[in-house]
Amino acid sequence: MLLFFAGFVQGSTALAGKLNRSAGGDSTVNTATYEAVTGVSAEDDKNAWDNFYKNKSDLYGKEPISFLKEHLHLITRGRALVPAMGEGRNAIYLAKNGFQVEGIDYSEIAVQKALANAKSAQVSFKAIVQDLHYFHFQENYYDLVVVCLYYDKVLLSQFKRAVKRGGYLIFYNKLDQQDSKILNKVRVPDDFAVKSGELKEGLKDFQIKEYREYKDFDTRVAAILARKP
Ligand SMILES: C[S@@+](CC[C@H](N)C(=O)[O-])C[C@H]1O[C@@H](n2cnc3c(N)ncnc32)[C@H](O)[C@@H]1O
Repeated sequence: MLLFFAGFVQGSTALAGKLNRSAGGDSTVNTATYEAVTGVSAEDDKNAWDNFYKNKSDLYGKEPISFLKEHLHLITRGRALVPAMGEGRNAIYLAKNGFQVEGIDYSEIAVQKALANAKSAQVSFKAIVQDLHYFHFQENYYDLVVVCLYYDKVLLSQFKRAVKRGGYLIFYNKLDQQDSKILNKVRVPDDFAVKSGELKEGLKDFQIKEYREYKDFDTRVAAILARKP
């Protein structure tokens, strides 16, 4: 795990070599390896994301998702976790708005860009380079967990577990039926899309405050705000 805070390296160990999604996941949900499911090794995926970020900046823009902006007033300031944060647009917005933020991504390049963006925005947050399947999610710890354009059923229970009682979980995902992308000649699987109603079903033990399926920037998305009872 590589850990950064406001641009300073706090600690580092090598990234896990061969990654295997089943290793850190909930075996009751999915025991198949990532490779078996997608035909691509998780390490290749990570490298593909690195290449993607190497060649282009602001892949998803600098602005946070509007669904987050819209609901922020409902959420008590405190600790926020942003898994798969990319270049940090949502993490930076939360830091600007008074949250103590932890952002994680397994692309070191994305994390470096997130830290540079945070510096420009004059905010700081804790940035961690790690595969989420190896991250230790503290239980009942965060006031808010924001998962944007990332979805993995294996990790859903971990994200839910990490939210404090009375805290919130936000998901914002593409809706299914969108094809894999070819980026820099490497296939990046679009496996983060959700089916219609899937987020609602996955969070049925939370209080669903808002659920929407709508078109955002020409893409069909599903977004949910759910509170842990
Ligand atoms: C579609 S991008 C979304 C980025 C960001 N959430 C946003 O909306 O701007 C997906 C991100 O997930 C990261 N990612 C994919 N699998 C991951 C994993 N197993 N652990 C950590 N990060 C991962 C990729 O590096 C990439 O930055």
